[in-house]
Amino acid sequence: MSVGFRCCALIPWMVLAAVLGSVLSLGEDLDRPLFGPPGSPIGVHESDPGLKKVMLFAEERYNRGSNAMHLRKISRFVSATKQLVKGIRYTITVELSNTLCKKSAMVRTCDFYPETQKLKTEVCVFEVWDIPWQGTSTLLKQKCSPKGQSAAQFKLQSPKKLNKCVVFVKYSFLIALFGLTEAERRLQIFQENLKTAEKLQALDQGSAEYGVTKFSDLTEEEFRSTYLNPLLSQWTLHRGMKPAPPAKTPAPDSWDWRDHGAVSPVKNQGMCGSCWAFSVTGNIEGQWFLKNGTLLSLSEQELVDCDGLDQACRGGLPSNAYEAIEKLGGLESETDYSYTGHKQKCDFTNRKVAAYINSSVELPKDEREIAAWLAENGPISVALNAFAMQFYKKGVSHPWKIFCNPWMIDHAVLLVGYGERNGIPFWAIKNSWGEDYGEQGYYYLQRGSNACGINRMGSSAVIN
Ligand SMILES: *[C@@H]1O[C@H](CO)[C@@H](O)[C@H](O)[C@H]1NC(C)=O
Ligand SMILES: *[C@@H]1O[C@H](CO)[C@@H](O)[C@H](O)[C@H]1NC(C)=O
Repeated sequence: MSVGFRCCALIPWMVLAAVLGSVLSLGEDLDRPLFGPPGSPIGVHESDPGLKKVMLFAEERYNRGSNAMHLRKISRFVSATKQLVKGIRYTITVELSNTLCKKSAMVRTCDFYPETQKLKTEVCVFEVWDIPWQGTSTLLKQKCSPKGQSAAQFKLQSPKKLNKCVVFVKYSFLIALFGLTEAERRLQIFQENLKTAEKLQALDQGSAEYGVTKFSDLTEEEFRSTYLNPLLSQWTLHRGMKPAPPAKTPAPDSWDWRDHGAVSPVKNQGMCGSCWAFSVTGNIEGQWFLKNGTLLSLSEQELVDCDGLDQACRGGLPSNAYEAIEKLGGLESETDYSYTGHKQKCDFTNRKVAAYINSSVELPKDEREIAAWLAENGPISVALNAFAMQFYKKGVSHPWKIFCNPWMIDHAVLLVGYGERNGIPFWAIKNSWGEDYGEQGYYYLQRGSNACGINRMGSSAVIN
């Protein structure tokens, strides 16, 4: 295979690996998916810097809230998931034990009690809501019990019984691998190898040292037969959308549907993984406006509650949502069926349908064609890797490919326009993290390099 993984190249790769571990969220537990529909919880590795920060925060809150004499610290990491909401929602299972330090001495170097019986180890589940661009963390939940007691109750929900939908969804993201460049493919192999190396290192009782180079020799053929072929057969099960008819005219230099009244104000998904619902309503609001001349604000909550093809606050796919809307008979308005940010019983009534759709189409993957289609037909539902979005304040974002791997798509948004700012071509992206996010709720991403996989999952409803 490549020379890049050998000898002198090792050190930079190791550094990169530490970063990648967090960017790509290597899962410790193979039950937990590395991929899911936008907004779904995914497994996260202990080395994730975001997770480390959040664990310290949870530990600090835990100590603040207890009246024990001794400072207690995390003695073992058990597992964690993270979910993209407005910010990131972490669910962490750890063990905490007594240290020798009195609480008054808030130092981080306190050693644990050497005597096991004095450790008084507890197993705790914490839920923390972290909003990186605001620099805020909130402890949503803390549940602890002495170690050894009803450990089963603390097992995180792992998607053992993946239903078919989730499986398709999972592969629909992986399928994007076919479009990977050689470098990205190597990163994928590297990542898997790193995981193996880490596991071996962790399990080794002796003096063996495992390095990335020893395991990086998976050939492309091996890779293909191991990873890609099973995916191909799964892919055929996926409900395909019709391709969108190409635009009739080339894309103008710039276009912005906000200037043409087709975009409702920025909304806020809150602590729920419902980005997919906001992306889809945004698209339908635009389509309805272009058909009917009225700009409505449509209900995401209806989709959270009534779309049985998607996973409510645990993620979903636009392609499924269109199908659900067709089956239901349409969408109610935001005022008739307003947003609560958690799943409730479906309260949809046909009487209140404000907008309907007749079918949906899949957009081409070429950004020039996407731009031409957008200018001609309205805002587009798209999905992307939102890693860089977490730290975004303003300007046109153009993250390194390795920080924004195009096949690790975790967020759905709305393309409303495009143009050029100081010579940098951009997409104008309506997000659903409130108006205080980014530039008045919008994110601007470099256009023309398929950045963050922005071209991979474009779609639109069709109203006849
Ligand atoms: C737009 O929709 C409203 C309400 O559904 C309807 O009464 C009206 O006739 C529609 N207008 C057009 C131009 O389609
Ligand atoms: C589109 O869907 C609406 C609502 O389901 C239906 O009333 C209408 O007849 C459909 N239009 C066409 C052309 O199929």
